[in-house]
Amino acid sequence: MTSTQLPESLIATLPGRYYTDPGLFALEQATIFERMWFCAARGSDVPRPGSFRTVQVGAESVIVSRNRRGEIRAFLNVCRHRGARICSDGEGSVGRAFQCMYHAWTYDLDGKLVAAPNLTRMPDIDRTEYGLRAVHVREWLGYVWVSLADEPPSFEDTVLQEVVNRLGEVANLDHYEVDTLSVGRRIVYDVRANWKLIVENFMECYHCATIHPELTEVLPEFADGYAAQYYVNHGAAFGADVEGFTVDGSAGLDPIPTLADDQDRKYYAITIKPQVFVNMVPDHVIVHRMYPMAVDRTVVECDWLYLPSVVESGKDVSKSVELFHRVNQQDFEACERCQPAMSSRLYRDGGVLVPSEHHIGAFHEWLRAAIGE
Ligand code: FES
Ligand code: FE
Repeated sequence: MTSTQLPESLIATLPGRYYTDPGLFALEQATIFERMWFCAARGSDVPRPGSFRTVQVGAESVIVSRNRRGEIRAFLNVCRHRGARICSDGEGSVGRAFQCMYHAWTYDLDGKLVAAPNLTRMPDIDRTEYGLRAVHVREWLGYVWVSLADEPPSFEDTVLQEVVNRLGEVANLDHYEVDTLSVGRRIVYDVRANWKLIVENFMECYHCATIHPELTEVLPEFADGYAAQYYVNHGAAFGADVEGFTVDGSAGLDPIPTLADDQDRKYYAITIKPQVFVNMVPDHVIVHRMYPMAVDRTVVECDWLYLPSVVESGKDVSKSVELFHRVNQQDFEACERCQPAMSSRLYRDGGVLVPSEHHIGAFHEWLRAAIGE
């Protein structure tokens, strides 16, 4: 099949194989998810020394935990002896040490090898050298970000720069004090679609009028399809008779008191490559993290964050959760509808980006550079 010539004002999407080729997915795992800063878990997911969570980062399983001093640590979830998984559960507590279930090698909460059967008769085993392999960690927005690279990229030049690109300055996000907020609700979605379909979907609002009736009620400018995530660095205003960012436009919860005037009655959204979306409204912040599991499967974990006083008081957050939960379901259903067609002969050369989606073209250029094309 020959490639279709597109008029100059239109650009092609990525060819279908970018969404179906396991080899390309493996390349993305190695060059993107295992190299960049990856948002792995919320700090409160591991509240105490010995608490842990395991997450998939690229092709690796990573343990996020806290040491005895309460500091965040992250390790590859692989025993240095013969490679058994150290933690097989998604979350829990190991108490004072990690112990491998196979031959009982035992590592302290900083990853150092502290005990093994007959260890004293094995003088060649250096306890630090044969400790768990630590990975780089950074805490920001109350989340634990990890990089599996030997030399991680600058957090400032990558993650924080994305915020500057979208919001003008990091301070515009800082006003929400996201690190101090509490998780009011978490919903995990298992999406049968390539992670890039989810990113592309999040970046455009061309679909909003078609699939998001509740969202366009609250944010009327999204109904014309031009608002787009790309254009909302000035914020999208709530509709005139809308009281809050809720499924029926009714009043929201206590607003975050540190917001600037121009953040009132507004919705802001940013994408932080490669796998985080942040949505900000006056009374809550919604943070999505994608965990790409396979070329055609992505787990998306979504947190709704409110003032701690709101969460502690037991106030009903369901109307605000319901709005974006529906948006998520609508978006992921659309992504799942595209995924099977990515292997169609008709999509061999990709599809078309209309003018309001041209920033998705920039995402594709970024991707191609990241995987070394
Ligand atoms: Fe872990 Fe042997 S594989 S102790
Ligand atoms: Fe959407």
